[in-house]
Amino acid sequence: MPQAAAVPAPQPAPHGGLATGDEREVMRRGRDFLFAFATCLRSLQLYPMENQTVGKSLAEMEAIVGDLLALEEELSVRYVGNFFFVNDVRLRVDLASYATFGAVGRALARHGIGHFDFFRGVQRAEWTAFLSVLLTEPAAEDAFDVFSERLNRSAVLHVAVGPSLESDAPHDDDDAKRLAKRTYAQSVAVAREVMTGMRMGRGVSLRPVKRAVQSIVDQVLSNETSLVGLTTLRDYDEYTFTHCVNVCIFSVALGKKLGFDKHQLYELGLGALLHDVGKIRMPHEVVNKAGPLTADEARGMQEHPTEGMLVMFGMRGLTEVPLRAMLLAYEHHMKTDQTGYPRSVRPRAPTLFSRIVAVADGFDAATTKRSYQSQPWPPDKVLREMRDNPGRGFDPLVVKAFVSMTGIYPVGSVVILDTFEMAVVAAPNPRPELLHQPVVKIIYDSLGVPVDPPRTVDLSELDPATGKPLRTVIKTTDPERYGINVGDYFV
Ligand SMILES: [Fe+2]
Ligand SMILES: [Fe+2]
Repeated sequence: MPQAAAVPAPQPAPHGGLATGDEREVMRRGRDFLFAFATCLRSLQLYPMENQTVGKSLAEMEAIVGDLLALEEELSVRYVGNFFFVNDVRLRVDLASYATFGAVGRALARHGIGHFDFFRGVQRAEWTAFLSVLLTEPAAEDAFDVFSERLNRSAVLHVAVGPSLESDAPHDDDDAKRLAKRTYAQSVAVAREVMTGMRMGRGVSLRPVKRAVQSIVDQVLSNETSLVGLTTLRDYDEYTFTHCVNVCIFSVALGKKLGFDKHQLYELGLGALLHDVGKIRMPHEVVNKAGPLTADEARGMQEHPTEGMLVMFGMRGLTEVPLRAMLLAYEHHMKTDQTGYPRSVRPRAPTLFSRIVAVADGFDAATTKRSYQSQPWPPDKVLREMRDNPGRGFDPLVVKAFVSMTGIYPVGSVVILDTFEMAVVAAPNPRPELLHQPVVKIIYDSLGVPVDPPRTVDLSELDPATGKPLRTVIKTTDPERYGINVGDYFV
């Protein structure tokens, strides 16, 4: 019997089942928005910020934005092939709108922007900042990346941008690296904004966090090495935020190794990014203390898992309460032997999600320089300790998966080779039986002369004459001793 032609499944109406009437409403107001947006752009081009015309056009746009955000919590304005879509509803172009839409489209396209989204809570100052950045001269190269960097610097919390589709897919290694860098920088910015916002008692939307996690999951699935490499940047002035992002990246990569599907990775990533959110309720001086904590301070800090769970109750939109993330925040310092904190009255085993985040968290915390005084451990030593010391309370199977993911010498380790060359580990060996032979970048030759640019070699490469590896790791070393900033080799 011939195969019946596939009948297309009924498509859900865009954005949560909007009725056609609502769609029309979005279309009408979306069109008004674009007109108002274009007027703002034009008036800002002609007049200074304080000018009355500018103020009036901004006020008009704000009113329209208010109406739109009453209909939908979040609005996405997408520009594809000369058409505008507002929350997936295509706006009709007619004679009256043709020139206006074109002007807005060009303003976005010259920065490589494919869409911008705004959320409830957006303030006028954010619009003016967004419009001003839009009016700056686009960079000759990587226009979109430069634009997002400029936007990140301007403390715009409720407007986010995405690249146009043509510039989104990585074409080569350099593109993949650039994309990874962008994802990393944006995620750190989101973590910073959300945590600072909540600390100051502002209502914070989870949407930007969800977006950041989605990009991390996409990146880990398509090109894991680039993103994992960036975890070595470890800027201690930004420790709290880079730590959240690093734990998220490690957890997602670990989840991938353990066979999680995309949705599970996303849930895991969301919880991982928010795992330390309870620290916003801890005294600032203690969280950022350079030296060791007093017994009292340490006891106080042990409340952060419980506080983290409670903080999440307060996140906006009760339907969005991320149950898994709450459990994860609560459990991430529990050890497999029931010690750790918070202490449980009845015996309980932390969930697999929590055990994964515990490993990612332990690794990142131990390998990061957290203050001007403390010295991080070399990554391979941390892994050995996590694997061989049951007192640390990590799930041995998860640690094993972590080691097979990162290699015995994780990305970012600085190693001395038997050739007396010094190298930075760039990627684990893809073959699990060769975990001790990663791919490295040689940064100093045997005489101690810098190799610039660093030479990438695979340590499993054999000498054809002897059949033995050309190079072998003798030991790891402390990058600080040589004034090496490992992150420099991954940007
Ligand atoms: Fe923690
Ligand atoms: Fe942590």
